[in-house]
Amino acid sequence: MSDLLKFPDGFKWGSATSAHQIEGGNYNDWTEWEKSPQNSSRFISGRACDSYNRYEEDFDIAQKLNHNIHRFSIEWSRIEPEEGKFNEKEIEHYKRLIGALCDRGIEPMVTLWHFTNPIWFAEKGGWINSKSPEYFTRYVKYVVDNLKDKVGLWITFNEAVSVYAGFSYLNGQWPPQRRNLFEYQKVRNNFVKAHILAYREIKKMCGDMSHNIAIGLTENNVYSAHGDRWYEKIIDSIYNYQRNIYFFDKALPYYDFIGLNYYRVDRRMPGSYRNLPRQGWMPEMGWETYPKGIYYRLTELKKIKKPIYITENGIADGKDEQRDKFIKEHLRWIWQAIQDGADVRGYLYWSLLDNFEWHHGFGPRFGLVEIDYATLERKIRPSAYEYSKICKENALIL
Ligand code: FCB
Repeated sequence: MSDLLKFPDGFKWGSATSAHQIEGGNYNDWTEWEKSPQNSSRFISGRACDSYNRYEEDFDIAQKLNHNIHRFSIEWSRIEPEEGKFNEKEIEHYKRLIGALCDRGIEPMVTLWHFTNPIWFAEKGGWINSKSPEYFTRYVKYVVDNLKDKVGLWITFNEAVSVYAGFSYLNGQWPPQRRNLFEYQKVRNNFVKAHILAYREIKKMCGDMSHNIAIGLTENNVYSAHGDRWYEKIIDSIYNYQRNIYFFDKALPYYDFIGLNYYRVDRRMPGSYRNLPRQGWMPEMGWETYPKGIYYRLTELKKIKKPIYITENGIADGKDEQRDKFIKEHLRWIWQAIQDGADVRGYLYWSLLDNFEWHHGFGPRFGLVEIDYATLERKIRPSAYEYSKICKENALIL
């Protein structure tokens, strides 16, 4: 006998992307760094998936797969290539893109910042600069002013504290490749300030409309497996707070929903295998997967008492052998969390397309849709059709 796990009425189903990973032809601090001798990975994003020109084809696919929401990001360096000078042609591009989603019955969810910065901003010190919250908010105001009629769901920052600050200012892997605890703390602070400032300004600008507009914050949460000794649990809880919760905590109450990106379990704590034997494996990333971990993270986040969207969850799996199971197992635990009181409003698989995976280059294949990077041909993977049945039924059949 099969079980039918119904999701709440109005639950949103879709997928997510980000500008630098799919658009192609960008000119920002990442593209500059990609060309520099400091880029130890040597990967160049180049034309990526050429989605800047092929978004209609991509959205046709999302529509065919029964998606009713789509998360994408706006590339700041396109909108404001020079300080204070906004590019109308580019805002028109994003207007058309949003129109293309709406025409297909797909709700846009717009991320305003997803790891990349304009060159001028990076030259001013990037997120170290104490004026960075104002620079960011000036850009946000321009974008929201132009797009607010068609967009209800906004995300200021993607994984700014949980991933970017650490990679760019602590372990030196991403531009600007700093390793400095003082700078790391300053950058985290500036993100919190920028979010709050942007939140307030958007609400002010939208006035009467502001009840139709929800502004969220997306962070990556790992499930950290701990050993069973009490001091490991304490260290783990500090680590969890600093990495997973910090931004949500500091930005309270200035956000309307939580965006949760969840991928994996972390083995930072010695002795963790005693409590949790080895789980699933994602070889293309070297990540350990653990579907039940999303239940634990949702249980933690529900204490904040805000609606939650799963803004990313996915697996790099070029052979498409594990994706179907991965999605279903995570949805099983998301469903359980909803039964236990988590207010989850939607699930957005990462990603619609294979794409440029930062310092891993084009190797990892996260897409529901396979990209042939030589011809840019799109090919829908079998697991995408399985996921499309869930989207259509608003239910998981086990
Ligand atoms: C997340 C990022 C996203 C993508 C996935 C695999 O941390 O937000 O851009 O790289 O990981």
